[in-house]
Amino acid sequence: MDSINVTGGGALNGEIPIAGAKNACLALMPATLLSAEPLTLTNAPRLSDIKTMTDLLQSLGAEVSSLDEGRVLVLSSHNADNPLAHYDIVRKMRASNLVLGPLLARHGKAIVSLPGGCAIGARPMDIHVTAFEAMGAVIELKDGYLHADAPNGLKGAVIDFHFASVGATENVMMAATLAKGTTIINNAAREPEIVDLADCLRRMGAQITGDGTSSITIEGVESLHGATHPVVTDRIELGTYMLAPAFAGGEVELIGGRIDLLQAFVDKLDQIGVDVTETKRGLKVKRRGDTLKAVDIVTEPFPGFPTDLQAQMMALLCTAEGTSVLEEKIFENRFMHAPELTRMGASIEVQGGHATVTGVKKLKGAPVMATDLRASVSLILAGLAAEGETKISRVYHLDRGYEHVVAKLRGVGAQIERIKE
Ligand code: UD1
Repeated sequence: MDSINVTGGGALNGEIPIAGAKNACLALMPATLLSAEPLTLTNAPRLSDIKTMTDLLQSLGAEVSSLDEGRVLVLSSHNADNPLAHYDIVRKMRASNLVLGPLLARHGKAIVSLPGGCAIGARPMDIHVTAFEAMGAVIELKDGYLHADAPNGLKGAVIDFHFASVGATENVMMAATLAKGTTIINNAAREPEIVDLADCLRRMGAQITGDGTSSITIEGVESLHGATHPVVTDRIELGTYMLAPAFAGGEVELIGGRIDLLQAFVDKLDQIGVDVTETKRGLKVKRRGDTLKAVDIVTEPFPGFPTDLQAQMMALLCTAEGTSVLEEKIFENRFMHAPELTRMGASIEVQGGHATVTGVKKLKGAPVMATDLRASVSLILAGLAAEGETKISRVYHLDRGYEHVVAKLRGVGAQIERIKE
């Protein structure tokens, strides 16, 4: 298994291009199943999760080809008639469950294994299942698979989510585009990836209003047609690289960055002592002075502070002056990076959904292990500012969500290399 070596110390200067959003692309790709005509996605990220979704869609009979070294995906489902999403693929990635809604809508049938994904909590599917039942589907759990049937098609319904689930909002929004009548999703997720998916579905002929608010209305139509859609900027990759100069010093410009994707995160950076300015091409980030200040963080659905940036922010707060409390409200088990950061000299106490971080002067390089996607990158960031060398093993998690991480950080002067083993 490959590992990554980072030697800390040097300031970072230059620019980093930000890719299209993994989480948007993983929702956009299954939208192909809703139409017999081709869907072209531009600005796609080159990641192993995208490969996993490609494998899954191909196993359902869809055709997926990639152009321009993977930046453009052309998907066609005119022959996609297999409703079975097999455990062997689904277990690799929770977002596989996003084929459930499109399969049900187009074929009236779906057999989808319960998903796996990052080991960061129970991550059940009850919100999805309850919604599809309200739309007339009959769903049974057999042998680890959800068997969903709607032989006469789905019907529009008013659906009240008990939590603003991102995946359930995407799944139900896609299915509702072809349902008979009107569907209203109340307490819908408001993430930028939801708006991106709604934009793409509208380009395919869907009638959707209210995306980006907590009530989305979808009028079902007879069929959807082909479209070309650019994937929105990856706000999590953006936030991650915005932190690099906050850790190491220097000034980095994030090409394609937008503050509106990350307002809550930018507000926290300001309180910590990190300046973010808008430029013609994106955002520039620089520390205001030599010391960072402690701050409290609560993860929440958008527009709150994103859970997917909690690990990276915790790593930064390890050397901030004072005590920070981080509260994780989305995933109950998402502090697995804390013991690894402790091995680098951080002072962190985890109790239930809270982590208390007391700032130390400096972290020290150490061998550490990546436990999930965002935890892995938090260890790389910590290594950029640590004394000496940090060796991060199990970096295959990183390939799921960060394209060319080593090249992007080397491009701004980081001492980082990937060791093939
Ligand atoms: C998506 C993102 C993930 C991000 C998360 C929260 C993708 C591919 N992944 O994941 O990176 O961390 O949003 O912003 O877009 N829940 C239930 N029942 C359900 C569904 C979810 O209880 O039926 C719970 C989950 O266990 C979790 C919380 O709701 O505790 C958030 O889940 P959800 O918003 O659905 O996240 P995902 O779509 O899986």
